[in-house]
Parts: sequence; structure tokens; C-alpha cells
Amino acid sequence: MDFAAVLLEWYEKNGRELPWRKSGHPYEIWLSEVILQQTRMEQGLDYFERFLEAFPTVEALAAASQEQVLRQWQGLGYYSRARNLHKSAQQVVSERGGRLPGSSKEWLRLKGVGSYTAAAIASMAFNEDLPALDGNVYRVLARVFAIEHSIDSAAGKRHFEELATNLLPRGRAGAFNQAMMDFGSLVCRPVHPLCVQCMIQPMCEAFARDRVHDYPRRKGKKQPVDRYFYYFLFYWEEPPGAKQFFVQERDKKGIWQHMFDLPLMESSVKISDETVFTHADWRFVFGLEGWRQEQQPVDLKHLLTHRRIHARFYPVRVSGQARRALHQRYQQTSREDFHELPKSRLLERFISRLWS
Ligand code: ADE
Repeated sequence: MDFAAVLLEWYEKNGRELPWRKSGHPYEIWLSEVILQQTRMEQGLDYFERFLEAFPTVEALAAASQEQVLRQWQGLGYYSRARNLHKSAQQVVSERGGRLPGSSKEWLRLKGVGSYTAAAIASMAFNEDLPALDGNVYRVLARVFAIEHSIDSAAGKRHFEELATNLLPRGRAGAFNQAMMDFGSLVCRPVHPLCVQCMIQPMCEAFARDRVHDYPRRKGKKQPVDRYFYYFLFYWEEPPGAKQFFVQERDKKGIWQHMFDLPLMESSVKISDETVFTHADWRFVFGLEGWRQEQQPVDLKHLLTHRRIHARFYPVRVSGQARRALHQRYQQTSREDFHELPKSRLLERFISRLWS
């Protein structure tokens, strides 16, 4: 079976029961699409019902005041959606005698109706053979076909549109588009996709490559780079119970510049504990007397816009020779003084994890 056939079979069994699907009425479909542009389904459904009750027809909507319309929209945000909907309803009544557009081309002439909305309405209401590509649909296609084009470039969008057009089963565009949307939000979800129970999985290229989370691609948003930070908390107590340790100010350009940090070793690849402790850079301390690892290392992940930092913190108690050597390079601080220093959230998380 091909992709569309499997998807439609899934949809028949698992598609959501939505009020506008039952009625198939273009006014209801239009309203639902405008609401769902920026709103989650659960919240959107509620508003849809209330809005439709207040303005059951395009004539009723056109006859309402803008204030009445906005009141119904209260809490949904992006109020230009409501204003455009209202204006378009008045346009339909004044220019078309209340007859709603019958093709995507005509829908496009209304304010607030873009190519996605026009295709969605025309396919659902009239089965016009057009794919409707929203975020869900891009994600599903990008994963199933491992599309490397970015979804935020014009060329990428054209590629997805062409692919969707080729996949679209003629005469069944309405069901196909809605199946894609439901499948994207129920199964092929952005963060926790249900690959294990997914019917499409046997033909999913991203799954086969174990790269589901790498799709869809985005140009603007570069994939974060993995970095491995191996931190040393060289500490002692003076007087007993009062923790002292070594810090340094970051002068390197880039993240956390001028913030205080622990002594560390940065790497672009994961390395073993043994490699860290025997590394030449740390011979000046680990080659001497006076250090002890009394506690297990602590692992923390830290997500930045462009980096994914995998941090491992080694608490190492120091005294004598080792501590004197560290004094040559680093600055001493206490738990209390450290509190006042500018530092990363990562470091803060670690210290409070270890000592609070
Ligand atoms: N999101 C936007 N329109 C939708 C629809 N008709 N079905 C499911 N999700 C949607």
C-alpha cells in the first residue's frame, strides 16, 4: 500500500470527530480554520462552539458589530483574525449576496485567507484537489520522506508542496488533508512521536535512519551543536563545614563571557573519566599529592540556542600540594561569595544540587 492509502485507513479508524467535519459546511470550516491558525484544538473547539452559537451564519456574523465579534473572540489572542473574519463576512454578504466562495481561488480574495486556509477550506468543503500544508503536514512529510529541504525557505516550501500534490489521492483531498493534520498532531507529534505504534513507521525514512527528531529541517534555526564540558569542583572546608572552592572568570569569547566558571575541560566529543583525569592539561594537579574524589560525578544537560551542553561535574577534595598548585591559577571563593558572582544557570544548578 502506498502512503496515502495507509494514512486514509488510519484516519478512518482514528480521525477526530470535529463538529465542522460532520456538517461539512464551508462557513463552519472557514471559522474553524481561522480559529485553529494560532490556537490549540482543545481551546479552539470551545470557542468554535460559542462563536457559532453567537453567529450561526455568515449573514449573522456580517450583521454583528465589531465589538460583539471581538467579545466572542476574547481570550483567543491575535485579534486581527477576528477583525478579518468579520470584514470578510460583510464582503461576502455585500458583494456575493451571502454566497460563500466555491473555490480556493475565490477564497483567496477574502481578507485573512492565505494559501493554506484557502486550500484547507476548498479541499474540505468541495474536495478540490489541493494539499493544505500546515506545520503538522510539513513535519509528517519531512519525517516520512526524510526531506532535507528546510521548511522555512521558499525553495523548501515549493518542494513540500510538490511532494504533497503528488501524494494527494484525487477526489479525496479533504480526507487526505485532515488525515495529515490529525496524524501529525496525534501520532507524528513534534516532541514525543508515537513511532512504536505508528502504522506509517515501516515506510518512514527518518525512523529507519533513527533520525526522527532531526526533521523537519529549518534554515533559520541551526541544529544545536553538542558540546561536552568536564568540570572540576576543587573544594575544601575552612573552617570545617565552610566550603571553599576554585573559580575562574571566563575570558573566552562566546557563551558566558566574563561570567565565573569552574575549572573545566571542553570537548566536542564525549570522553571517558580516565581520559579526563590523565589528560596532560591536568597533570599540574592530578600529578601531585593532595586530591581525592569522594563523591560520584554529577551529570547535567544544558540547552542553549545553538548548543547542547552535556556537563559532567567532578567534585574533588583538595589539600596540600594540589591545592597550592591550583591557587596559582584560580581564584578562591566560598559558597556565600559565589552566590554573588555572575554565573551560568548550569553552574547554579550544579552547586545547589550538590550542596543544598
Ligand atoms: N488544524 C487546523 N485545521 C484542522 C482540521 N481541520 N483538522 C485537524 N486539525 C486542524
